Amino acid sequence: MKKVVVILLVLVLLIQLVPYGRNHQNPPVLQELPWPDTETRAIAQRACFDCHSNETLWPWYTNIAPASWLVQRDVEEGRSKLNFSEWGRGEQETGEIGELIQNGEMPPAQYTLIHSNARLSMTEKDLLLNGLSAAGVASSETEEKDDD
Ligand code: HEC
Repeated sequence: MKKVVVILLVLVLLIQLVPYGRNHQNPPVLQELPWPDTETRAIAQRACFDCHSNETLWPWYTNIAPASWLVQRDVEEGRSKLNFSEWGRGEQETGEIGELIQNGEMPPAQYTLIHSNARLSMTEKDLLLNGLSAAGVASSETEEKDDD
């Protein structure tokens, strides 16, 4: 038993030497999405900004492998698909944003497990979606919605 614990400890220490996962840079905010109001922005900030903006918060555990690896991958992939801080640049993949929010696929479950304040209620999802479409974010789902 003691042996197993020691081996595990050594392993945990050894994986800290892997350089991946230490790049915790927040590039400058170039141009934000034109949020229609502060409420929408606040919801997005809570639920999306850690992976889809240049204003990622990096709590202490993001410095410790293997958590650091997962977070790094999420932030790199997330920013490359959708970055609210670099609006009007590159391709923003918003086509499925409505579905992803409504179905609770974004923010991802492994994230809301730890960040309970990122869990969105139905009302907050609707507010976010309405705000996004008011800002001109194209989503196949919100376009289908009939408002009459
Ligand atoms: C924990 C990190 C994380 C959070 C928080 C998060 N996302 Fe994502 N998101 C990702 C990753 C990683 C990808 C790329 C991989 C994928 O598509 O699953 C992604 C992809 C996307 C995409 C592109 C999907 C496609 O068509 O390829 C959209 C749109 C999106 N997210 C919207 C959101 C919105 C809106 C929120 C907040 C309500 C949010 N995400 C919160 C990590 C995150």
